[in-house]
Amino acid sequence: MVEAQSRVLRLVLLLLPALLAPPALCMPEGDAPASYAGAQLLRVNASTPDHKDTLKRLEESGAVELWSGIVSHKKTVDVLVKPDKEQEVKQKLRKVRAEYAIVINNLQDAIQNENPVISEEEMLLLEGRKGHRMTWHSYHRISDLHGYLDFLAQTYPQLCSVITIGNSVEGRPLKVLKISPPGSTGQKAIWIDGGIHAREWISPASVSFALKELVENFEAHFHGQESTLGSMDWYFLPIANPDGYEHTHSRDRLWRKNRLDAHKGSCAGTDLNRNFGYRWGGQGSSRDPCREIYAGRSAFSEPESAAISNFVKSKASIMKAYVTFHSYGQYILYPWGYDRKVPPDYRDLNRVGQKMAQAIRAVGGSSYTVGSSATTLYPASGGSDDWAKGSAKIKYTYTVELRDTGRYGFILPAEYITPTGKEALAAIKVVAEAASQEP
Ligand code: ARG
Ligand code: ZN
Repeated sequence: MVEAQSRVLRLVLLLLPALLAPPALCMPEGDAPASYAGAQLLRVNASTPDHKDTLKRLEESGAVELWSGIVSHKKTVDVLVKPDKEQEVKQKLRKVRAEYAIVINNLQDAIQNENPVISEEEMLLLEGRKGHRMTWHSYHRISDLHGYLDFLAQTYPQLCSVITIGNSVEGRPLKVLKISPPGSTGQKAIWIDGGIHAREWISPASVSFALKELVENFEAHFHGQESTLGSMDWYFLPIANPDGYEHTHSRDRLWRKNRLDAHKGSCAGTDLNRNFGYRWGGQGSSRDPCREIYAGRSAFSEPESAAISNFVKSKASIMKAYVTFHSYGQYILYPWGYDRKVPPDYRDLNRVGQKMAQAIRAVGGSSYTVGSSATTLYPASGGSDDWAKGSAKIKYTYTVELRDTGRYGFILPAEYITPTGKEALAAIKVVAEAASQEP
């Protein structure tokens, strides 16, 4: 008996260092995927500077993640808290009398329920029937989405083609679908991208929904009474951050950045939407690789942002619109993002932005807020939109933050893909109409 007890004791002593060691900060490849069991999404009242400071400090220390950011005119902030920080965070919130509601009680459950799995049998049936594996009932892996772009190019060779504009850090292709309607003069074009931020799954899903509609339902969309949509070329990059996107499927659902230096083990990734070269490194971005808003070593240090800028720049003289899809919050944002200023032609941007919001409301009933990025959300430098407007001089430049307004946040269930995709398409058609009428 004594023998057995001392053996147990020795075992405990042996294991003690491992038990006391701080949890590993990063997750080496090969381990289990990140779990969000017990993690909560809180909606925190942040109406006073005291509340906001507390949240900022908690974020900087890594105790929480501010999903929504601290939005200038909003009284609440969406805050992700992991179980090991719950006590500390709630105590600090109570101390400054910041009230909160629990919006999601267990994030891991939300993640599990977000995306219904399609069985391999169903997939094979689908593939046999349609010639590709893409659907808009669930969020798909890159192979399905890229496969679908190739399918479109093969099936509609008169109308569209696939262009690989570069490769990601880990060597995945950045695939652009070009739609060139028979009436296009080739003198005007519109650019649309999605998936700059990995975890914003609704973005690639909606962008691919929109391009699917335009190609496979071409007559319905392009042959309206006075439509000039068919007079220009369309370029779609649905997954601008393929490494990050795959990482959110295989390792960590809430990854945001690209996968720079992933092999080093800690603090991987650059925020691609802080890496563009207009006013790079200014407010709302960070030099610290561990932060979610790390701007990178230099402007366009990342192959993903560099490929977009090189390609778009090569067509800058014909590009009349640049629209980049993110989530969430339901905003239509125009430059500038780096500071609370607006470009000289902001009235045009605001007018078309309002029309986009109207079209969205008409098709899906959602309400989107229109305004300049820095004033409507928060200042953030190095965004792709500011570069498109400031450096490439593209007139109609927008960041669209898709659904929702915080009920599910990034973990928007797949049943919302179709309704959100319809809204994205409606918005795109409004910008495209404005773009096609530009001189
Ligand atoms: N949620 C986006 C981000 O944080 C908003 C970007 C708006 N554009 C900008 N240039 N700040 O990246
Ligand atoms: Zn984003």
